[in-house]
Amino acid sequence: MAKSQLRFVCQACGSAYGKWSGRCDNCGEWNSLVEETVAAPLPGAKGAGLPKGRAGRLVPLKGDEAPLKRIESGLAELDRVTGGGLVPGSAVLIGGDPGIGKSTLLIQALAALARAGHATVYISGEEAIAQIRLRAERLGLADAPVLLAAETNLSDVLATLGEGRPPEVTVIDSIQTLWSPAVESAPGTVSQLRAGTEALIRFAKQKASAVLLVGHVTKDGQIAGPRVIEHMVDTVLYFEGDRGHQFRILRAVKNRFGPTDEIGVFEMSDRGLREVQNPSRLFISAREAEAPGSAILAGMEGTRPVLTEVQALVSPSPLGTPRRAVVGFDSNRLAMILAVLEARAGLRIGAHDVYLNVAGGLKVREPAADLAAAAALVSSLHGAPLPAQAVLFGEIALSGAVRPVGQSEQRLKEAAKLGLTAAVIAGNGGEPAAPSHLRLKRVETVSDLVAWVAGLPRPERTGVKPLLQPVTDG
Ligand code: TYD
Ligand code: MG
Repeated sequence: MAKSQLRFVCQACGSAYGKWSGRCDNCGEWNSLVEETVAAPLPGAKGAGLPKGRAGRLVPLKGDEAPLKRIESGLAELDRVTGGGLVPGSAVLIGGDPGIGKSTLLIQALAALARAGHATVYISGEEAIAQIRLRAERLGLADAPVLLAAETNLSDVLATLGEGRPPEVTVIDSIQTLWSPAVESAPGTVSQLRAGTEALIRFAKQKASAVLLVGHVTKDGQIAGPRVIEHMVDTVLYFEGDRGHQFRILRAVKNRFGPTDEIGVFEMSDRGLREVQNPSRLFISAREAEAPGSAILAGMEGTRPVLTEVQALVSPSPLGTPRRAVVGFDSNRLAMILAVLEARAGLRIGAHDVYLNVAGGLKVREPAADLAAAAALVSSLHGAPLPAQAVLFGEIALSGAVRPVGQSEQRLKEAAKLGLTAAVIAGNGGEPAAPSHLRLKRVETVSDLVAWVAGLPRPERTGVKPLLQPVTDG
């Protein structure tokens, strides 16, 4: 019997230490170390004196298995992100901030699956049956034949799932509320999370059920985050979005059965999540034409082009150290673009506060966004609006060169589809087949970009409007 020992385990990354400290050395998280009982490694596990093993059979790479049969959820955006549907016997982790809509998404998916004749089970450790029913009613799903259980004990969960016909799709909401009686640590700790995940993965494999695990992302280390089980599951999806916005984005960060760069876009409503088939229209629809500092990026999210508005505000700073703030954009990338604009195009931004925002709550991660971000910055600095009907994309190098990026044709096509008429792209990227009514403007360096923006017409600066105005004029 393995001896167990006390350890301090980081609830953010799972690293274990012999001594407590205020900060995890591995991930840098503060206050995340919690005392846990960890089973000591088996004697001989270090490698010395390993017992003699049994030889396995080596098999050729090419097998004769039938092709993967996926279970389509009927929510097209969810199926897109999983790579075409759920794979029987696989474990999927769905992480996200509390309250972002994970339970809503999954109950909608289960209801759609159940209506299509699949056996589904929803196990909640967070809500009572009555609460789940109430939610289903509000979402108009009350008649879907989904089976429910409110359970937190891992043994009971497994026993419940083992009864009768095994479900084809099982949801566990959430993995952090499960506790195994075989593990001494408190519910929500790393050891409990790992034990629960391990047992449920085994169940998934044995019964060929697709198991979806909900994991809350937590900032304060009170309960362990989904990070610590990412390596155990087949697929990791994150459900993200800005609480102030109604858009929610489902993003694959790991997928053993599909691509990892796809996103699914949803819109929150009082009747649940609605799929957004054409995100571009949504993200740029609220854009004010002719405002300095606004640029449309033709980005790619997986195989799908998505147009988004990048907004910048550059204004003289009263502070010794000017502010640099980003929302939905990488702050290192912004620092680099600012440095290149200063060094290669002679712009003086050093004494300005700089804010960069990607509208709609989307997070832009590709280097192709550099050109749109730079254009938005220069446009704000000059007070010259960019043409409202133009998209931009291209990567900016430290030398100041604007480099072409992949999938240009798809980006241009999307812009044309949405009625835009011009595109600003890298100067030396060959001839992408652009739709005929799209005018192409080439910029080879950031200096070209700055010269182009400086030549754009500047609207008369209107005076500051009084903040309070009478309700009726006269
Ligand atoms: P919920 O699904 O419970 O979030 P999570 O499981 O990630 O903690 O959703 C949080 C709240 O938002 C809940 O009160 C319901 C509400 N909500 C809507 O009203 N409409 C929606 O489309 C979504 C997604 C949520
Ligand atoms: Mg929930």
